[in-house]
Amino acid sequence: MIAVLILMPCWIAAQSTESLRITHGPWLQNVTRDGATICFTTNLPAVPGILLTGRDGKPDSLVRNSTDGMIDAGGTLHKVRITGLEPGQTCSYRVIPVEILKYKPYQIYYGDTVRSKEFRFTTQNTTNKTTRFMVVNDIHTNGERLGRHLRDGHADSCDVVFYNGDMVDVFEDEAQLLTPIIDTSVRYFASSVPFVYVRGNHEARGILARKLKNYLVYPEDRYYYSFDQGPVHFVILDCGEDKPDDNRYYYGLADYDRYRLTQLEWLKKEVLSDAFRQASYRVIIVHMPIHPGDGSSHALLFLSDHFGPVIKEAGADLLIAAHTHQHLWLNGKLSGIGVPILINGHLNRIEATAGDKSLKIRVLSEKNELVTEREIDRK
Ligand SMILES: [Fe+2]
Repeated sequence: MIAVLILMPCWIAAQSTESLRITHGPWLQNVTRDGATICFTTNLPAVPGILLTGRDGKPDSLVRNSTDGMIDAGGTLHKVRITGLEPGQTCSYRVIPVEILKYKPYQIYYGDTVRSKEFRFTTQNTTNKTTRFMVVNDIHTNGERLGRHLRDGHADSCDVVFYNGDMVDVFEDEAQLLTPIIDTSVRYFASSVPFVYVRGNHEARGILARKLKNYLVYPEDRYYYSFDQGPVHFVILDCGEDKPDDNRYYYGLADYDRYRLTQLEWLKKEVLSDAFRQASYRVIIVHMPIHPGDGSSHALLFLSDHFGPVIKEAGADLLIAAHTHQHLWLNGKLSGIGVPILINGHLNRIEATAGDKSLKIRVLSEKNELVTEREIDRK
């Protein structure tokens, strides 16, 4: 729901010596054909807002979200959903939070309004004949390495960037996500191009693991889903933790096998959908590799035993995985699931372009050296 509201600042003696600032972001999430969510944080409680810059003589419009009849307000972590957009529409926006100085039942005082610089993003467009995307994984909070990949891979010219899991080592403090991952992403692309954060096993570790979605936005609030960008149908899977649920290090708090089986039922329906079957390219992205013979952990075995046959039966053009920290290319015959598998090492990135004739894939090291190059023909 979108509401438009003008808040008049109330000039009273400031109760804080700090001025309102945008401390992280903005970063785009869940950009779809008709909308996008813009996330950012402020140092002080605020009313979040997005100013969409009018085009073709139309006035600017202020977007605020409301929940249960209340305009979102009072927090420091903000998410504003823009809706009603067209596929392939380019929007210019500014982030404009308003400081809340005092919030009492019958008395609310507003402070400063901050205006960010202008950014621009484009909604998904399935009629585009080409799309460019990048994949990085197993960064383990190494923001410098991430930055080199984003800079050298020109992340800002991608339609979407995938973070294929284990971007953090553990999640105990929000700075572990915000500083090396979000800030680095914002520096290079994330205010204009969305990233898709695929959960790895390390994101499941730490007291904040259950709060990860506070900082990210997922379709239907699930870690497994599908979407289309240009000629590619992407299927995102969530591998879960690596050890058996009754492993002593989970202290009785793991329920991944049941979760994976629920996800498997979703995947069985997904591969029967028109969107999957009729796509020019079908790319599955999952943190842990899914191929028979790799039984080096409980989850790998579980995935290959249960998900492998479904993928083999359905077919796909490529499965992109991570987790092992080793680069490996397995063609459809060697992978055991009839689908080529590219496991991306932790030091490398994948740059891919899907076009009229083929899906071109390049794997490059953090020194920007070519590791391998592959081409998959369009159906
Ligand atoms: Fe992993």
